[in-house]
Amino acid sequence: MGRVEASVLIPAAGNGERLGLGPKAFLRVGGRTLLEWALLPFREAAEVLVALPPGAKPPEGLRATFLEGGRTRQESVARLLEAASLPLVLVHDVARPFVSRGLVERVLEAARTAGAAVPVLPVPDTLVRPEEAHYGEVVPREGFRLVQTPQGFFTALLREAHAYARKRGLSATDDAQLVRALGYPVALVEGERTAFKVTYREDLLLAEAVARVWSAWPQGR
Ligand code: CTP
Ligand code: MG
Repeated sequence: MGRVEASVLIPAAGNGERLGLGPKAFLRVGGRTLLEWALLPFREAAEVLVALPPGAKPPEGLRATFLEGGRTRQESVARLLEAASLPLVLVHDVARPFVSRGLVERVLEAARTAGAAVPVLPVPDTLVRPEEAHYGEVVPREGFRLVQTPQGFFTALLREAHAYARKRGLSATDDAQLVRALGYPVALVEGERTAFKVTYREDLLLAEAVARVWSAWPQGR
């Protein structure tokens, strides 16, 4: 697998409030910080930019440029985007530490041809609309996908989408939403279950387990 010819943007400026263990970027799992894990598949990337919480000390020994993040994820990505220097960007949350090179390649390839691409997964559980505290209407899960990162875009397109969102006061939890709001189609590629988001305490149990396997078997990714 060759060099990743894109600017890799890592929003890592969140405070991890639901986890309650400080900013996720600096949280250690299996001997590495989530930021170190998240950067692994981008080792050969042409450019890596990371947004950290304001006032956080940039970690040493990582091949990346560090910026101060904003108040929201969207603001952090907007700042990273300003600094990006290549025509293609990959936006990847530090909260998803385990991403394979294969996934990066899939997203990159689709983004190169379609201009915008994101990894998705089918919903494994039954989906229901609760009615107060009771079981309500079941929503056919086949009609839904779970959205992951990294998400790939033409840099100019994502900049336009962020500018449009700013003007319209839109706020979004990922970047594909903003691109779609602009009216541009976003291609879907197959995600991977190991690229889950570390959000709650229990997710750390899973993360420790994956870290153990991946540490012992680095080329498997
Ligand atoms: N993020 C960011 N800047 C912010 C808020 C979030 O760069 N102002 C990043 C986080 O670091 C994370 C990603 O956006 O990589 C997704 O956010 P989430 O999982 O919600 O992480 P946190 O915001 O840190 O967690 P919480 O919402 O529980 O506080
Ligand atoms: Mg958050």
